[in-house]
Amino acid sequence: MSYQARIIVIALVSLVAAAFLGPVPAPAEFFNLPPLPPPGKYGNILIDRLSTKNGVKPAAFSHWLHREKYTCRVCHSELEFNMKVNTTEITEAANVAGKYCGACHNGRIAFGQDQCKKCHNGEIGRGEEKLAQLLLRPLVRTDYGDGIDWVASLRKGTVAPLTYLKTQSKEPPYDRELSLEAEWVKFPPAVFPHKAHSEWLACSNCHPEVFNIKKKTTLHFSMPLILKGEFCGVCHLSVAFPMNDCKRCHPGYTSKNIMR
Ligand code: HEC
Ligand code: HEC
Ligand code: HEC
Ligand code: HEC
Ligand code: HEC
Ligand code: HEC
Repeated sequence: MSYQARIIVIALVSLVAAAFLGPVPAPAEFFNLPPLPPPGKYGNILIDRLSTKNGVKPAAFSHWLHREKYTCRVCHSELEFNMKVNTTEITEAANVAGKYCGACHNGRIAFGQDQCKKCHNGEIGRGEEKLAQLLLRPLVRTDYGDGIDWVASLRKGTVAPLTYLKTQSKEPPYDRELSLEAEWVKFPPAVFPHKAHSEWLACSNCHPEVFNIKKKTTLHFSMPLILKGEFCGVCHLSVAFPMNDCKRCHPGYTSKNIMR
């Protein structure tokens, strides 16, 4: 059965179930959501484009540990890290010269390049226990991902990440909130708030590569593609809150209104 056909069957089953059998099957189960790591490992990566090949263990990197101090823009725009693990040409020579990790890991902003094992340890859960320390602060919490509502915590001022190292962004603020409607099935639309995204990201993190600048011109913008890591899935599968949090994107969603 095609995706469309399956979703219509689920819709009909839900209607019948709602009428006669009480609880409606959880729609979340319909989508093959990827399994989630525990909060302390959410957003953690092991960088191994060159390490193993060159006789050192892969470099461990934790997003929640770094994003508490820096916005995405600092690393993914100013320092030119790509948003896909093992695609940036990070080398030890570049780090020592003050690029990439070395922009901060220079012994002044953070520990220096001499402390090899702090990075090259091959442990995806390295430093996991520090999340508990971070959570002693009055951060706003969620039940998903790393457990922190970064948007609300930023606005409350309980996190205050730096937005640049050397070059301040000249992008004018853009606050437009978009309502993205599904085209072929009745389901509460997804919201896309530019404000919450611009507080963390540069326009160029999304435009023009991930999304066309004109609303509704991005083709085949649907849950199956998002779950394959395209569009919203570029960030909302691995670093920003995960796809399981249906209601945060579809505010009108309740377990009852699936497909009605
Ligand atoms: C702040 C973190 C960090 C520290 C500290 C660090 N490295 Fe790296 N290093 C990296 C990253 C990230 C890469 C790219 C990894 C990859 O693609 O596999 C890398 C790459 C390497 C490579 C791959 C080959 C090359 O030429 O780039 C070697 C070998 C290496 N580091 C050795 C070391 C040694 C030895 C030390 C200590 C003297 C050290 N590193 C300290 C983060 C670090
Ligand atoms: C301190 C630097 C730093 C900050 C801050 C940072 N990132 Fe990253 N991010 C990285 C590095 C390094 C990689 C791996 C790049 C590589 O290996 O080519 C990465 C990879 C990613 C990936 C790919 C993950 C994967 O599994 O392939 C995504 C998505 C991502 N970042 C999103 C974000 C978002 C969203 C933010 C802000 C909330 C953010 N990053 C903040 C450094 C950072
Ligand atoms: C924008 C600045 C910045 C960049 C870029 C950055 N870091 Fe960090 N990193 C920090 C700061 C600040 C800390 C916390 C302070 C400290 O531990 O010295 C930290 C802590 C860490 C830790 C925790 C070590 C521990 O055991 O406490 C690891 C591991 C780490 N960084 C790896 C990396 C790697 C690998 C890269 C590059 C892929 C990288 N960082 C890029 C600023 C940065
Ligand atoms: C990160 C945001 C985000 C999250 C989280 C999210 N969705 Fe979506 N969803 C979207 C977007 C964007 C669309 C496309 C809207 C459109 O068609 O314009 C969409 C579309 C849909 C559709 C319409 C069919 C389709 O594939 O386009 C359904 C049904 C749906 N989502 C259900 C869910 C359910 C159930 C969850 C929780 C398991 C969920 N969504 C979580 C963003 C999200
Ligand atoms: C996290 C991703 C993301 C970031 C960052 C982002 N945008 Fe967007 N933008 C979108 C999406 C998604 C759409 C809707 C695309 C569609 O419907 O095909 C959009 C649409 C737009 C539109 C068209 C709106 C309309 O009503 O037609 C403009 C203009 C725009 N963005 C400007 C900006 C500017 C300026 C910035 C930086 C301040 C920015 N965007 C940052 C994701 C982003
Ligand atoms: C380039 C990365 C990126 C992409 C692509 C992206 N987001 Fe986000 N989004 C974020 C980050 C970072 C946050 C801050 C919260 C967090 O990290 O959990 C966020 C927050 C949100 C919020 C929460 C706003 C609030 O007030 O709490 C919504 C809703 C949202 N995104 C929807 C979407 C939708 C829908 C799409 C696709 C059309 C999308 N995002 C694409 C990175 C991204």
